[in-house]
Amino acid sequence: MPQELKQHIDEMIPAVEREMKAVLRAGEGAGNALYGMMHYHMGWTDELFKPAPAPAGKRIRPLLLLLSAAAAGGAWEQALPAAAAVELLHNFTLIHDDIQDASPTRRGRATVWTLWGAPQAINVGDAMFALAHDALYRLVEREVPAGVTVQAARRFDETCVALTQGQYHDMDFENRTQVSVEEYIEMIGGKTAALLTLCGELGALVAGRDEETTGHYAAFARDLGLAFQVKDDILGIWGDEEQIGKSAATDIETRKKTLPVLYGLERSEELRELYARPENGSDFVSRVVRLLDENSARTYAQEQAARYSEGALAHLEAASPTGPAGAALHQLAGRLLQRKM
Ligand code: IPE
Ligand code: IPE
Ligand code: MG
Ligand code: MG
Repeated sequence: MPQELKQHIDEMIPAVEREMKAVLRAGEGAGNALYGMMHYHMGWTDELFKPAPAPAGKRIRPLLLLLSAAAAGGAWEQALPAAAAVELLHNFTLIHDDIQDASPTRRGRATVWTLWGAPQAINVGDAMFALAHDALYRLVEREVPAGVTVQAARRFDETCVALTQGQYHDMDFENRTQVSVEEYIEMIGGKTAALLTLCGELGALVAGRDEETTGHYAAFARDLGLAFQVKDDILGIWGDEEQIGKSAATDIETRKKTLPVLYGLERSEELRELYARPENGSDFVSRVVRLLDENSARTYAQEQAARYSEGALAHLEAASPTGPAGAALHQLAGRLLQRKM
């Protein structure tokens, strides 16, 4: 990993973990199962709520936010509450998303709903959603002006709505036979890119930058998010299960309308017929993958990801990030776009 990025990760991520642990009362041990389930999901404990090293997620959202704050000329420590807030919001969406998608595993471990049931998992998610807001309001304790904090809170909630709008489309697409590429872009713009957009935006906002610069950071992070999601879709079909931490068959079995699939459906009558059947045969997944390969669906999706990647880098140029954090931000973008993180 490039040196500037590594140095920033080593400094920033433990600070975000400390901030999140304070909000989620991680010091209080196993006495409170509601919090315990949150600690499990965050990768801090095992399912008996005993401290245990576990896969915790890449923490790319807080990293993007803190690097944006520093590269925009701010003091990144001041932005820590916002960084903790976006990561908690992300993790809340994952707890609910795993119920919505009937996903048994996340980050290589059992999901909250498989261990404690969907009703409890919904409730755990609700608590984390509220605590994400609690985390954000701590901005005022770091001398961020009240007006900036309110603006941040407002954008935070708008992003929550955009996320649920994206999730609505994603779930709706599973029951539809026809979905356009435009609808797909709108969907991932909500479920994935909205939160990343917010990370770039809040970083520059807390650094006290004007609307124009904040807009460049936001646009950079949005394109990065779109590229990231298209790559996630590709990995969801052709990825190595070890790397993605979930089964590479789930997206196809649930007939998720990902970009490669939409492209394939437009081109293959056989694939349309297969997807129209109510039941999955034993060779369903392998047949779908073969048809996608025959119709260059993977190449098409890779080209689209490359297009968003270029957009992201152009907006980053326009934002003119400075200093070692600016270098680290470039490196982070590069690695995310190569999906090395
Ligand atoms: C997964 O996001 C969900 C998407 C929006 C694609 P990440 O890949 O950032 O998940 P973690 O937090 O690192 O596990
Ligand atoms: C998760 O999207 C995005 C949100 C929770 C908003 P997906 O359902 O596509 O991602 P994974 O594959 O479960 O991580
Ligand atoms: Mg999912
Ligand atoms: Mg989902």
